[in-house]
Amino acid sequence: MDPTWVQYYDAFYSFKNYAKESQDLIQLIQPHLQSDGKRWLDVACGTGKHIEWLAREFTCTGLDLEDGLLAAARQRNPGLTFHQGDMRTFSLPERFDVVSCLFSAIGHMLTQEDLETAVANMARHLLPGGVLAVEPWFRPADWHPGRPHMITAELGDVKLVRANTSLPPVNERITVLDFHYLIATPQETQYHREALELRLTEEAEMRAAFEKAGLQTTYEPQGITGRGLWLGRKPQ
Ligand SMILES: C[S@@+](CC[C@H](N)C(=O)[O-])C[C@H]1O[C@@H](n2cnc3c(N)ncnc32)[C@H](O)[C@@H]1O
Repeated sequence: MDPTWVQYYDAFYSFKNYAKESQDLIQLIQPHLQSDGKRWLDVACGTGKHIEWLAREFTCTGLDLEDGLLAAARQRNPGLTFHQGDMRTFSLPERFDVVSCLFSAIGHMLTQEDLETAVANMARHLLPGGVLAVEPWFRPADWHPGRPHMITAELGDVKLVRANTSLPPVNERITVLDFHYLIATPQETQYHREALELRLTEEAEMRAAFEKAGLQTTYEPQGITGRGLWLGRKPQ
């Protein structure tokens, strides 16, 4: 993703309150945490907006698939370490008190096997007593096709629109987010289209992934944004 698009990406998500989400997340995790350190790994960290706030209380590291997003994360959080990697396969030498995967990034796992591989890999990076926190994509029953959505944003004198319609999921499981973008700059208005695939996941499937990874598992139905939050503690 080029730097201009990374700026647009942040502008589209400017409705999110990363400061409050981070505070709420720490509060939800704290009662489960039994390791005594302060090391936090945010997987699929995007442009590092949760880390910006989490780093006030924890020593944070970030990881993401996209180099362009990581460049913005590094700029936002000077002095912190960011790695490029896939949540299924990354391998770091350190272990962490908390590993998080937020804003439904786990939905990029398009099969149950990939979901279980990613959860097991993130759990492997926990210290004994540490906690994995995953904010899921929707459950099949919570997906309502036929709803139009629109986000508008501004970045200096550039006006941004992102519109899409919730479509029936492919094979009842894969939601295709068919995003249509209009970018109005002082020179011209550009049109872009992007399709993102995310897998709807049953609670039992997410629980199975956590339990197979050996985690003591809890589900918080509200979570930090209303999408729920899975918490799993690695036994001591
Ligand atoms: C909706 S964004 C969430 C970003 C960030 N957590 C936030 O809350 O702003 C989803 C992120 O998942 C990342 N991602 C997608 N597939 C991934 C994978 N297989 N491994 C690691 N990151 C991935 C994307 O690059 C993107 O940064």
